[in-house]
Amino acid sequence: MKFYILTLFPEMMENVLNTSILGRAKEGGYISFEAVNIRDYTKDKHKKVDDYPYGGGAGMVMQAQPIYDAYMHVCQLAGHKVKCLYLTPQGKLFDQPAAKSLALEEDLCLLCGHYEGVDERVLEEIVDGYYSIGDYVLTGGELPALVMIDAISRMVPGVLTNSQSGSDESLEGNLLEYPQYSRPETWNDRTVPAILLSGDHARVDKWRFDQRVERTKAFRPDLYEKYLSQSQNNG
Ligand code: ADE
Repeated sequence: MKFYILTLFPEMMENVLNTSILGRAKEGGYISFEAVNIRDYTKDKHKKVDDYPYGGGAGMVMQAQPIYDAYMHVCQLAGHKVKCLYLTPQGKLFDQPAAKSLALEEDLCLLCGHYEGVDERVLEEIVDGYYSIGDYVLTGGELPALVMIDAISRMVPGVLTNSQSGSDESLEGNLLEYPQYSRPETWNDRTVPAILLSGDHARVDKWRFDQRVERTKAFRPDLYEKYLSQSQNNG
């Protein structure tokens, strides 16, 4: 899967994307990234990419032309119209089902806004979907784009090894993950739950499942409700 990122800060993206699991997935050829600097496409002689808002008001607005030309460059590179997503608090909430479904795309273009916004006309022209990563306002779309790329990439086959994936991870089936322990057996007077040392796999599985249900009930009552109605529907 290939990610194109339209941004004013390509170096911010590259640093993260070349690190850890994403970096390895890129080396392995499972995913690739191209951060396209919007500023490279401005026709302004001072390399300006923003201007005052019509109608007045605070802040600056990113202009349509450099974004449009940068996006056209992306489509030319890809050889087709690439699905373009705009990151904004006004968008649809990005969640695990969205990550799974976007991971089926061959490529994606993420548009990162800045300043007080982006000229609406270019959004109307190129954007296929609007996504928010949560109900708070960030200074730009770069962090949301990185969050989305991370969550989408780990759903791309081959990115996670078998031992990293696991179907019982957090949120699978609307349940949170069970607690994990590693050596030593006692640390700071706290001991590992005895059942995990029992070697009885069936009892361990049951304990872990019960922990997931209990945790979800305690930490995420909203998710617990979903879990309940889902298990009722499944009989
Ligand atoms: N840009 C600024 N804040 C954002 C958010 N919460 N989600 C997506 N894009 C954003």
